[in-house]
Amino acid sequence: SRTVTTQSFLDAKQNRRKIAMLTAYDYAMAKIVDGSGIDAVLVGDSLGMVVQGHDSTLEVTMDDMAYHCACVARGLQHALLVCDMPFLSCHVGLEEAVRNAGRLVQQSKADAVKLEGGIGMADTVKAIVRAQIPVMGHIGLTPQSVRLIGGYKVQGKDEAKARGLIEDALALEDAGVFSIVLEAVPEGLAKIITEKVSVPTIGIGAGRYCDGQVLVVHDLLGMYDAFVPKFVKQYAHLGGLIAEAVSAYARDVREGRFPEQKHTFSAGESFLEKLY
Ligand code: KIV
Ligand code: NA
Repeated sequence: SRTVTTQSFLDAKQNRRKIAMLTAYDYAMAKIVDGSGIDAVLVGDSLGMVVQGHDSTLEVTMDDMAYHCACVARGLQHALLVCDMPFLSCHVGLEEAVRNAGRLVQQSKADAVKLEGGIGMADTVKAIVRAQIPVMGHIGLTPQSVRLIGGYKVQGKDEAKARGLIEDALALEDAGVFSIVLEAVPEGLAKIITEKVSVPTIGIGAGRYCDGQVLVVHDLLGMYDAFVPKFVKQYAHLGGLIAEAVSAYARDVREGRFPEQKHTFSAGESFLEKLY
C-alpha cells in the first residue's frame, strides 16, 4: 500500500502543511511524478480533453477511467491515488454508484474516488463511504455540468451562490469526504470555505488559501495549449521541446545521420557475404 493515506491529508491540514496534487494518466508519467515526491495523483476525467482530444469531459466512460487508473497505479509507490468518477457513473442510483466506485478500487487500485457535486450528491457520497471507499468532493466549477452551466466560468460570484457553495462544502464534510476540490472560485470565498471545513480543500483556480493545490500535468508541463486558463502556471514548455526533438529526429533520418553504427546490431559479417 502507498505511503500517503487519506489520514495524511487530514494530518496535513491539522499541521498546516500544504498538499501538492497533480494529475497523471499513464504509467511513465505516474512514475516520474511519484518519484518527485508529490502527495497525491489524480486520474482526472480531464483525460477526455488532454489525452483523448475531446472538447469536454462528458465523453469519458467508466472503462476509460478504469484503464487509465490501472496504468497509473502501476507507477505509484508513494502518492495517494484518487480516481475521478466520470459523467453519469454515479447518478443512476446509489447501487450503480457504489459498484462503479468499487471497481476503481478493486480492479484499478485507486485509493479513493472523486465525484463532482455538493448537497445533491451527499447521499451518493455517504453510500460510497459506507462501502469503505474514501471520497474526495469537487465543487465550484464542475466541468461535467458544462451543458447546464453553459460554459467554463468562475463560480460563487454573488452572495447567494457563495452561500450555496459554503452549504455544499459543509454537506460534503457531513457526508464523510476526506477532502474537497474547489475549482474556479474567488480566492476570498475559497478562504472562507477552507476555514469552515475540517477536511483539506484542494484548489484549482481557487487562490492562495486552500490547504492544497491540484493542476493538470499537461498544463504544468506546457504540453496542452488548446486552452490555457488564467490559474495555470506552466513550469516548463515541453510542447516546444518535444517538437524540436521530433523535427531533429526527422531531419536526421532524412539526411542519413540516424541511425549511426552504435545504434545497430551485427551478426558475424563472414556468413552474410554468402547471402549476396
Ligand atoms: O479532471 C481533473 O483533472 C480534475 C482536476 C482539475 C481537479 O478534476
Ligand atoms: Na475531473
